[in-house]
Amino acid sequence: MDGNGRWAEKQGKSRNFGHRAGRDRMIGLAAHARDRGIKYFTVYALSTENLARPQKELDSLFGLIRRYFASNIKKLYKENAAVRTIGDLSLLPDDIAKLLTDGEKNSPQNAGFTVVFAIAYGSRAEILSAVNKAVERGEILDEAGFEKLLYTSGLPNPDLIIRPGGETRMSNFLTYQAAYSELYFTDVLFPDFSDAEFDKAIENYAGRNRRFGKI
Ligand code: IPE
Ligand code: MG
Repeated sequence: MDGNGRWAEKQGKSRNFGHRAGRDRMIGLAAHARDRGIKYFTVYALSTENLARPQKELDSLFGLIRRYFASNIKKLYKENAAVRTIGDLSLLPDDIAKLLTDGEKNSPQNAGFTVVFAIAYGSRAEILSAVNKAVERGEILDEAGFEKLLYTSGLPNPDLIIRPGGETRMSNFLTYQAAYSELYFTDVLFPDFSDAEFDKAIENYAGRNRRFGKI
């Protein structure tokens, strides 16, 4: 969800104003993705590297996460949507870690739609924690065994990864899981990434020929 800060600064507003707009856009996009028949919608809300931002910005991001979970989670459940978190919850304030674990625990079984929140998420940390678990157990792993040790255990690999905000890099997001994902980059800043922009990305994706290394 990149570009919130620049979007706000362009209008002479605070970065936090941009993050609030980004949160609202994320809520709208999740509903739209669901309407389009998407089953898993993952949002990269906070990376391990983002945790090194100034405390003031982190506090407002944490505030947004708290309020989002307090006011939106019941609505998602009512619509038979589940939530799931991927990331290192030990890096977050205790009350947020609890909101995230409870949000997952109380999710409906057999949900038709899952919103996956990548929070305090870093691909390198995820891979290392999986490797260390395997080393501790003295296990030699195959792909299926390794995937069970990742934060994303049980989730499908992403078909399409969209990065708004103009940068063309992965920034420590789902490196292992994205081995065969289709990538879509756009200069549109996240708060401006409308449902129509999402549809454009889906259309672009639909026109691709996924061969997975075969011919
Ligand atoms: C949002 O965009 C990403 C989050 C960490 C929530 P940024 O905060 O990276 O916005 P820019 O890149 O400074 O515009
Ligand atoms: Mg950014």
